[in-house]
Amino acid sequence: MRLLVVGSGGREHALCWALAASPLCDTLYCAPGNAGIAQEATCVPITAEDIDGLVAFAQEQRIDFVVVGPEAPLVLGLVDRLEAAGIKAFGPTAAAAALEGSKGFMKDLCARHGIPTAAYGRFTDAEAAKAFVRERGEPIVVKADGLAAGKGVVIARGPAEAEAAIDAMLTQGQFGAAGAAVVIEEFLEGEEASFFALVDGATALPLASAQDHKAVGEGDTGPNTGGMGAYSPAPVVTEAMADEIMARIIEPTVRAMAAEGRPFKGVLFAGLMITKDGPKLLEYNTRFGDPECQVLCMRLMSDLLPALIAARDGVLKNFQLRWYEQAALTVVMAAKGYPGDYRKGTEIRNLDKAAALPDVTIFHAGTQRAEDGRLLAAGGRVLGVTALGPNVAEARKRAYEAVDRIDWPNGFCRRDIGWRALER
Ligand code: AMP
Ligand code: GLY
Repeated sequence: MRLLVVGSGGREHALCWALAASPLCDTLYCAPGNAGIAQEATCVPITAEDIDGLVAFAQEQRIDFVVVGPEAPLVLGLVDRLEAAGIKAFGPTAAAAALEGSKGFMKDLCARHGIPTAAYGRFTDAEAAKAFVRERGEPIVVKADGLAAGKGVVIARGPAEAEAAIDAMLTQGQFGAAGAAVVIEEFLEGEEASFFALVDGATALPLASAQDHKAVGEGDTGPNTGGMGAYSPAPVVTEAMADEIMARIIEPTVRAMAAEGRPFKGVLFAGLMITKDGPKLLEYNTRFGDPECQVLCMRLMSDLLPALIAARDGVLKNFQLRWYEQAALTVVMAAKGYPGDYRKGTEIRNLDKAAALPDVTIFHAGTQRAEDGRLLAAGGRVLGVTALGPNVAEARKRAYEAVDRIDWPNGFCRRDIGWRALER
């Protein structure tokens, strides 16, 4: 098969790494890719949001199957456009990607179908939003309705903070159109976890659980990022909890989307709070997580490609995936200053020495190859140093051993990835 992966992050490197290993894969392209992906795929300089460019390339190159990594092209309708052109594509249509593209849509769907989530209100008017906050009290959570690259959520501890967030989004247009409407919701207490399922429109196949580390600093302090590390499985998601998540959240969502004429195909990634009253949905993403995809791909024993094709073709029923029993953990190395301003173009050395360690794979995110062959940092999140181990503690030891072999003075990482699992 001739395959095209869309995206340029660590998630897409992990997808390319897994797809390139499939006996079904003859030719693999990635648009736009990065320096690590270039070891697995032919990178083509088309951005993930250039829908026309991607469709034209897929047609010219007679691509058999497209795997879309990030959310933006899904919400822009890339899968709809590819399918209309006769090219099979993995991922939801724009109508189904609204589960991630509009938090208000997601919350209303949950309300209509009894899916457990935080109590909420939807607003476009700042005064009405503030009145709702006064009525509910704090802490309270203010969320931009649309895509905001993980930055559109404010946990307000007091009224001033809530009002400032409402004004920033609704009055000052901080997130542009994505913040022209907001969801304000109840603050939930518990332990966070992520759960992934592969969905074919009607059937959901559970993949695995994971835990992300969104804050930039150790002990989960400082501003939020795209994710500074992850591990899988998450011990808080026991087998019984996974069954409950499937029965109360994932399966009702799949049924609801089909019933409302937006059948969901692709990866359903539930951000959950495990509360004393059971699992509650914080948000849906309609794609693999980054860096969660890196740990899932390391743990997957089966060939990924037939599973993605089965989801696209609507034949996941009776499909089975095999997983390694081991845990996987990834440590993200980012450019100093991220998620604020950071330098690009600094040199990274000794990746080969780090990758030579057993059970270690290094997934690239923002990297670029200089003409003279040196590896340069080209983004905020730059590397995902990933290891397998018999448990989270061992996987973590191996990952940090690899991190310590990498020579990149301008990079940094959190040293406490996996702390929740280790504290248990
Ligand atoms: P989201 O993008 O909706 O997942 O929100 C980003 C982060 O904000 C989550 O990972 C949680 O840590 C936190 N968060 C979001 N909604 C709530 C809530 N209702 N209660 C407590 N924390 C929340
Ligand atoms: N790591 C969180 C996300 O991909 O949304």
